[in-house]
Amino acid sequence: MTPTDSTRLDTLRSAVRYHQHRYYVLDDPELSDAEFDALFRELQRLEAEHPELTSPDSPTVRVGGLIAERFEKVRHPAPILSLANAFGPEDMHAWRERLRRLLPEEEQAKLAYVVEPKFDGLTVVLHYENGRFILGSTRGDGEVGENITPNLRTVRVLPLTIPVASRQSAVSSDQSSLPSPQSSISNLQSPPSHLVLRGEAYVTVGDFDAFNRSQEEQGERTYANPRNFAAGSLRLLDSSISAQRPLRLWTYQILIVEGVENPPASQWESLAYLQKLGFPVSPEIRRFTDDQFDELVDYLAHWHDLRGRLPYELDGMVVKVDLLSQQERLGFTGKDPRWAVAYKTGGEEAATKLLDITVKVGRTGAVTPNAVLEPVAIGGVTVSAATLHNEDYIRELDIRVGDTVLVKRAGDVIPKVLRPLVEVRDGSEQPWQMPSVCPVCGQALVRPEGESATYCVNNACPEQLVRKVEYFVGKGALDIVGFGSRQAELFVESGFIHDLADVFDLPWETIAEMEGYGEKRVENLRAGIEAAKTRPAARLLTGLGIRFVGEVVAEIVMAAYPDLPALMAADVESLSAIEGIGPKIAASLVEFFSLEPNRALIDEFASLGVRMSGEERTVAEGTAQPFAGLTFVITGTLPTMSRDEAKAYIEARGGKVTGSVSAKTDFLLAGEKAGSKLEKAEKLEVAVLSEEELKARGQ
Ligand code: IVH
Repeated sequence: MTPTDSTRLDTLRSAVRYHQHRYYVLDDPELSDAEFDALFRELQRLEAEHPELTSPDSPTVRVGGLIAERFEKVRHPAPILSLANAFGPEDMHAWRERLRRLLPEEEQAKLAYVVEPKFDGLTVVLHYENGRFILGSTRGDGEVGENITPNLRTVRVLPLTIPVASRQSAVSSDQSSLPSPQSSISNLQSPPSHLVLRGEAYVTVGDFDAFNRSQEEQGERTYANPRNFAAGSLRLLDSSISAQRPLRLWTYQILIVEGVENPPASQWESLAYLQKLGFPVSPEIRRFTDDQFDELVDYLAHWHDLRGRLPYELDGMVVKVDLLSQQERLGFTGKDPRWAVAYKTGGEEAATKLLDITVKVGRTGAVTPNAVLEPVAIGGVTVSAATLHNEDYIRELDIRVGDTVLVKRAGDVIPKVLRPLVEVRDGSEQPWQMPSVCPVCGQALVRPEGESATYCVNNACPEQLVRKVEYFVGKGALDIVGFGSRQAELFVESGFIHDLADVFDLPWETIAEMEGYGEKRVENLRAGIEAAKTRPAARLLTGLGIRFVGEVVAEIVMAAYPDLPALMAADVESLSAIEGIGPKIAASLVEFFSLEPNRALIDEFASLGVRMSGEERTVAEGTAQPFAGLTFVITGTLPTMSRDEAKAYIEARGGKVTGSVSAKTDFLLAGEKAGSKLEKAEKLEVAVLSEEELKARGQ
């Protein structure tokens, strides 16, 4: 060990810290990746040569390695509180009125507010002693959290020593998105002797999608949402695994600061101070004076736009009284500070009791859990049921029967249970288990390896048949007027329908004697069924519910063959040669038609007089509208078109473009870095197009 080595070690550590800060926090690197790697490797080498000089603050500790057996408990220096909600402009004005009532006149004049994003992650509490990161914990119950220091050390943007920058220029005020605070902030050369702050650890949506995709490919567990992914990653006992998780951090509150001359006097100054010390502070913060309150409310009303622009999820916005002296004066009601509120858009989410979890068998045999809820009004609609997706979703979110859960209903999508409100549990809540047998037919349920869905594999399961019939007679398929879910259930239950062909072979005399089936009704239903026999075979093909073969695919393949028997004879090779048909679809079709019962079913249709042939494709005169009636969703980066151009291209050809993938989507136009929409499309068996394929079809 030479003195030069020791100096070199110090220089290297501070250089690595400085460049990591530029890269991860300021997003403005000075070095190329290769240059940085060289620096980092030299540091690692030197540390390996001098193990006596290793330090827990060295930037090399970010790779983790400490394996905990369990987490120690940490008592917070002050309670880690939560926030009351405001659901719209009226609530905001009411909040301001209350503040004004509670403050004497001379204080009212000094009122100002800071608006911040409400990051949808996990609260972490970070402790620094003489500029060194010594302890980090979870929120826990607000009083006591868990010591997750080794995991937090691996979070790249978390400074292990402060101030981060060894050069004055690194956080000069022109780098700062915060204006210089009004009062002077203490000399940054000496860190506070004691600093405890609060932040939110999170994962970006892109990193979450990428992680889940790769997990899925490897048949490993996936996470329900970025928040859960962040939570899971923070609480891993092996910190070397946390080190591989793309955890990030925003800091937003100072709980304790000691040993500085002029500590920040307001929230705005606190944020500026945190940023100067090298902590990540969101640039999306605004300060409003009290006479700008209308502007503030206006700004809040547009938080959805902000959410759309940011790469991470928001859970609303937070509005805080700026002056710390006023915050103190205003104090708390119960667990919530009077001086801050969380702004959310009312109407989309509500909390209610989860009364029960029931399972439903779908047409593919997939068994999905559904929430039975205490009815609750969300956005003017009473919601009493919501989807719970699958077994993993329930387990991962630890949703229990009896829990109060947060339910979201947006637009016309099926309401969804977002998460349980763990804070209000009373101990009577019961964990749920996927039943081991089909609740309808008693068949043992199967969960194929690597899949999140559980299936009833009994082809004759009456529930499955009801769902199959529903789909077969439904809009996208044979579109039989007067034949809906009620009829599907009744006819299956009455034993009239054993397979799809029976739809065309109903015992009309018996039906005519059933209650509610008068002459007129029977006549109409019969006419509807007769009419369905003459539809182009693509409709029949759609109705069979073959995996990956929805309306659009059915039309494409039927356009390539004169009739269904010809399609049945096709092999994977010739099917994949059709524009728009990939090997997965081709294989699925061939597999379906290779099974004897399916072939017999088609024969049965034919003998009942159901049309087997397709339709000549006609191109309209004048403006061709090849996309008429079709709904598209665009995702990812396309090779040549911008999203707006792609949208215009589709609309000019009669198609419609919507924002999210649902069962009604016909095509997903996907480019590079397509994320969750692509996954959803695959799940819903929505056909996926490239830009090239889109253009081929649009001609
Ligand atoms: S301030 C007493 N600011 O929201 C101060 N919280 O519902 C209360 N959160 O558990 C916290 N972003 O984890 C504050 N900019 C922000 C926040 C934020 C996210 C979380 C925090 C808290 C929850 C309260």
